[in-house]
Amino acid sequence: MQAKIFGSLGFKKLEAKYLEHAKEEGEFVDQFIDRLLDSGGELKQEAVEAQTLYNDPIEFLKADYNVSVNGIELLRKCMDGIKDDITTFDMMKVYLKDEEDDMYWSEEQLGLIELIGAKPWLIKTAL
Ligand SMILES: [Fe+2]
Repeated sequence: MQAKIFGSLGFKKLEAKYLEHAKEEGEFVDQFIDRLLDSGGELKQEAVEAQTLYNDPIEFLKADYNVSVNGIELLRKCMDGIKDDITTFDMMKVYLKDEEDDMYWSEEQLGLIELIGAKPWLIKTAL
């Protein structure tokens, strides 16, 4: 939804970036669901908190960066609990690396915004 909002506002590069990201996240979800089921686990659906959607890409970027930082901390804690299940551990390692890359990307963009200013960065993400 966030990607589509960016697209509708004219930020086509951001739309493409976050559509691709959502696809990747979905693939990780598929893998983890399969792993859980293959390991004899049980799926459970729980209500999740509604997420804020943003019209301002920079506000979104800041919020998304915080989500990454907190998510990575949580993932690292989880890794400790699965260290004896090497296959799951390896899958989580790949996911952790992906999340770190996401975080570095957001960090880099926030750095660029500080360096070149909000408007040039917004133009760069629209064209
Ligand atoms: Fe990701």
